[in-house]
Amino acid sequence: MLRSVLLGAPILAGCVLAGPVSAQDADPGAIVNALVAAGGNQPKVRASGAKGVCVKGSFTPTAEAADLSKAPHFAKAVPLTARFSMGGSNPKVSDKAKPITRGFAMRLSDPAGDMVFVVISAPVFSTRTPQQLLEFATVRAPGPDGKPDAERIKAFGAANPETTRQAAWLNARPVPASFAGVDYWGVHAYTLTNAKGDATVAKLRWVAAAGQLGLSDDEVKAKPDSFYADELKERLSQGPARFDLVAVLAEAGDPTNDPTVAWPEENRKTVKLGTVAITAVEPDAICDAGTFDPVADLPEGVAGPADDPMFAIRSPAYAVSLSRRTN
Ligand code: HEM
Repeated sequence: MLRSVLLGAPILAGCVLAGPVSAQDADPGAIVNALVAAGGNQPKVRASGAKGVCVKGSFTPTAEAADLSKAPHFAKAVPLTARFSMGGSNPKVSDKAKPITRGFAMRLSDPAGDMVFVVISAPVFSTRTPQQLLEFATVRAPGPDGKPDAERIKAFGAANPETTRQAAWLNARPVPASFAGVDYWGVHAYTLTNAKGDATVAKLRWVAAAGQLGLSDDEVKAKPDSFYADELKERLSQGPARFDLVAVLAEAGDPTNDPTVAWPEENRKTVKLGTVAITAVEPDAICDAGTFDPVADLPEGVAGPADDPMFAIRSPAYAVSLSRRTN
């Protein structure tokens, strides 16, 4: 029943599709430099997600997942390596910081090829184009006093109102008490294609089984600046931390080319694709040796949006960052 409802009418029509956008509309190296500068130019750091915890676990798909996508990772349980992180390139950022996204990068392994998602604790990204990301990061560079120019940031936000949506969303919610106590979103519109060739456009959401665990203002004050890593170890000693991977299906008019716009999630058709179980913390070296490339490492059956200029450029930018921090 579910199958015929979902696949009878592949949800493609009505999505706002523009022509493919070049990955090169801003230089990936310039963006990486600007992201690293915004975090205070720390040596050998990721351009974003500099502070984080490497973990391992597994992904177990639902029976419905294979109805939507022919990726082998949706046909059987697979191991995964993942990394939770704090947004930005400052490895000393406080775990209490707001409005900063928490990140979740994951590599689902299969002999036929990996499937990588790199997602954040907000349904929207901060910028619409790579050029806008370059400018967004540039205005946040600290001045001689070690602080960014608040007036310049304010003026940029006023001129680029879509870049303020993510911070507004995060500011309206508490600081997460745990990397495993908050939902994560893929932000981009993915196209899932099944073995019959039916395509479904969806945004992906990782729903925390623990629920949304937020800290009160008093709890935030009582916490040290680094508590996520210890909290996660303690949590995992009691059992796996689980997330349901849910596809939120597109409806007519949903933009696929703008990750600063959230699709309305009320009354949307959703399909649970499976469950991520995080089981243990791994040495940093396991995650630091490579990068989680969310563009290059996608199997047949899962594709990123060709019309979202923020998608394709992630691949060269992550490669530049990897090369900078490992050489
Ligand atoms: C123009 C678009 C983007 C650019 C240029 C960019 C750039 C980067 C770079 C250079 C890194 C460091 C990679 C490494 O050293 O391994 C990074 C990491 C990260 N990015 Fe992006 N990013 C973009 C979009 C996004 C989006 C849309 C999301 C979320 C949906 C995101 C989430 C993350 C996360 C969570 C990490 C940390 C990965 C890890 O733990 O290894 N980024 N980004």
